[in-house]
Amino acid sequence: MKKRVLSGIRATGRLHLGNYLGAVRGMLELQNPPTGGPNYETLYMVADLHAITTPYDPKKLPQNTREVILDYLAAGLDPEKSILFVQSQVPEHTELAFLLSSVVSIARMQHLPTYKEKVTQYPKENTMALLNYPILMASDILIYKADKVPVGIDQEPHLEVAREIARKMNSKFGTDFPEPTRFATKGEYIPSLTGEGKMSKSIEGSYINLTDDLNTIKDKIARVPTDSGKGVSVPKEGGVKVLFDLIGLFLGDERRDKYQNQYTKSGIKYSELKPELAEAIYKELGPIQKRREELVNDPKYVDGVILDGAKKARKIASRTVGEAKKKIGLL
Ligand code: ADP
Ligand code: TRP
Repeated sequence: MKKRVLSGIRATGRLHLGNYLGAVRGMLELQNPPTGGPNYETLYMVADLHAITTPYDPKKLPQNTREVILDYLAAGLDPEKSILFVQSQVPEHTELAFLLSSVVSIARMQHLPTYKEKVTQYPKENTMALLNYPILMASDILIYKADKVPVGIDQEPHLEVAREIARKMNSKFGTDFPEPTRFATKGEYIPSLTGEGKMSKSIEGSYINLTDDLNTIKDKIARVPTDSGKGVSVPKEGGVKVLFDLIGLFLGDERRDKYQNQYTKSGIKYSELKPELAEAIYKELGPIQKRREELVNDPKYVDGVILDGAKKARKIASRTVGEAKKKIGLL
């Protein structure tokens, strides 16, 4: 049997470069393996249930879910090769999550850094859904017995939980869940354009959207804070590091090394570097945007993809839930 891959992105709106470089590029890589390389059954979902674990607008959720599906398809996720679906349309995920929660302690969940951050961010929304977030994510992965999970490095603590749950379920009930590992891309951590922290939807001014046009990208890159362009060593943090990272990812390591050499020798002109980087980003995003426009104009096709994806995913998911229920003594 082919090994499986599962990943998801929360339905919180359009994707940004961090999502694309940290998660979607990995999803694409596993969907399109080189000839002769290992071949996977790939499943990619929109995590709409995870989107309701923090404050959100119910009126906007359906559109936000749709935006992620459109970005997936536009970026090259292909329903002929991958199962693309919406999490809440496979109710087995929540059913398995409850079963898995029987082997997880409350303390373990309370001590996760991702949980603590969210509670600090929304002190009045410290809900059970938020505490259960990692268990639902473990369920998303284990329900397909997935081995590989293409996500950014910030998701590693959640994967650790999924592995622990797999181990505990297997030893306590004799299930056969594999321990999933993260599939890392070169862009597993994209810093914020502000030079502080990570690129994130929740931080204004930190990101470039996949749907940004060339002028918007140029403006955003122009605003990245820089220095005189010269120094004894290459900066390891701040705006200049962001620029070097993005140059490596969009123009290649050689180009980045050349600029970094200039930085410690003759000095860099940011007035040349920044537009070159903006153009390179747009060169990759332009074709994605064009496909996206075509997809927006073909809602029936997109509806069909979502419907078909849920059907295929449910077939696998219900089998796993049935197995787990038997082992647990419920069937
Ligand atoms: P956000 O933090 O913007 O809300 P999500 O938490 O929805 O993004 O993340 C969706 C996916 O994108 C995850 O796999 C996550 O690891 C990845 N990701 C998000 N931000 C970044 C980033 N700055 N660098 C690399 N990957 C990222
Ligand atoms: N927690 C992930 C994020 O914030 C989204 C997600 C939910 C996910 N379920 C998943 C990622 C299963 C990988 C596998 O981005």
